[in-house]
Amino acid sequence: MRTIAEVQAANKIYKSGDTQITALDTTTLEIKTGELMLIIGPSGSGKTTLLSLLGCVIYPTSGKIIINGIDTNTLNASKMARLRLENIGFVFQSFNLIAPLTAIENVMFPLKLLGVGNSEANKRALAALERVSMADKRKNLPRELSGGQQQRVSIARALVTNPPILLCDEPTASLDTKSVGVVMDELVQLSKQDKAVVIVTHDYRLKEYANKTVEVENGKVSMNASFLH
Ligand SMILES: Nc1ncnc2c1ncn2[C@@H]1O[C@H](COP(=O)(O)OP(=O)(O)OP(=O)(O)O)[C@@H](O)[C@H]1O
Ligand SMILES: [Mg+2]
Repeated sequence: MRTIAEVQAANKIYKSGDTQITALDTTTLEIKTGELMLIIGPSGSGKTTLLSLLGCVIYPTSGKIIINGIDTNTLNASKMARLRLENIGFVFQSFNLIAPLTAIENVMFPLKLLGVGNSEANKRALAALERVSMADKRKNLPRELSGGQQQRVSIARALVTNPPILLCDEPTASLDTKSVGVVMDELVQLSKQDKAVVIVTHDYRLKEYANKTVEVENGKVSMNASFLH
């Protein structure tokens, strides 16, 4: 276990005209590999904002985000994109698979962005699909897969670059109970293989899978550590 990401007294304030919205109040927390952290809170509380800060998608208004020892405030947009590509895998609520690409082409996509050659990318994408038991569906288009299967392909895409951090925004929102179990078991396994897995959700049932739970309400974060694994 090591600290892979830190939020150091960071906040996010959006201004439009005369009004200001504190999407996330001043927050300090550490993300460690080997742990699955749940970020729970009602709609509009600031969960996606926190995940976007951790994911190097936005800069904090004040404070720092440190990813793998690097302060994101010191990076321009293109260096930030590189840091994101090398350190972070994203899993979204709506899968975000590219519709005209097959499962394996979707998983190969981040490797292409990293400049990995075709045959190597194919090999690694297949291994990632095998991890989530989706190799047999590698030639299917997203619309030919069930919700749970699409979510597993999107997990394969997130882990194919072997990033130390996996960020998931409502990864189980559109799934039935059985698929929730399959997807969450997979994410727990990944956390045990020395990855930091962070999951944003409304769903309190996911608490049983987490090492730590962070509650967000009205932009304010409170820690509720529970060590179950
Ligand atoms: N780009 C933006 N510009 C202005 N306000 C924003 C922006 N992004 C988020 N907000 C505001 O910040 C607050 C927190 O938003 P956020 O998306 O983090 O909530 P959330 O907890 O993810 O909600 P949900 O569960 O509905 O996804 C909300 O009041 C939202 O309207
Ligand atoms: Mg959100």
